[in-house]
Amino acid sequence: MPVQEGLALYGAAVEAGALGLPLLEIGTYCGRSALLLAAAARDAGTVAVTVDHHRGSEEQQAGSEYHDPSVVDPENGLMDTLPTFRRTLRRAGLEDHVIAVVGRSPRVAEVWGGRFGLVFIDGGHTEEHANGDYEGWAPLLVEGGLLVIHDVFPDPADGGRAPYGVYLRALASGAFAEISVTDSLRVLRRVSAGI
Ligand SMILES: C[S@@+](CC[C@H](N)C(=O)[O-])C[C@H]1O[C@@H](n2cnc3c(N)ncnc32)[C@H](O)[C@@H]1O
Repeated sequence: MPVQEGLALYGAAVEAGALGLPLLEIGTYCGRSALLLAAAARDAGTVAVTVDHHRGSEEQQAGSEYHDPSVVDPENGLMDTLPTFRRTLRRAGLEDHVIAVVGRSPRVAEVWGGRFGLVFIDGGHTEEHANGDYEGWAPLLVEGGLLVIHDVFPDPADGGRAPYGVYLRALASGAFAEISVTDSLRVLRRVSAGI
């Protein structure tokens, strides 16, 4: 995540932290953005929850554009970003401010009961995954809370379109109003119930 987008995410997390509710991330990877949510959560006296199966998205698998061989488990050849994420969190001194959930996003959403002050969608970028994240987690965002979507690319030449579709869907629902645009990061506020 580029610096300007990271700063926008952190700003949203600080603002949402004032609601006193947990801040949620879908898509932990190695923890870069989780650190931003964790720092804001710590200062607000709440916690960041971050969900990932840690096996990587489609575009991170071997042979794909964003593959990093250093996060492959040599025992089974599968991606495993959990050890790197845990080291990142430990080094930053933020372990006590994060709940890391290892699992598939829609399955975790099904069993999760609590509400959030912020939902940050940065998981799988296929239509199925991006829409599943929105449908599973946006209903748990309280009124006044912030929905943050990463990798929103209106121009298909810039990247995949599924997060952009979710962004349009959220606006079309009438339940969200746009707060800010920072490169591919969009911040929306929940103004009424629904998705
Ligand atoms: C783009 S990376 C997240 C980057 C991270 N937010 C950051 O800025 O450092 C996407 C992550 O989503 C995870 N992911 C993709 N689909 C998922 C799903 N259905 N359930 C849980 N995690 C998923 C992948 O394992 C990957 O680690």
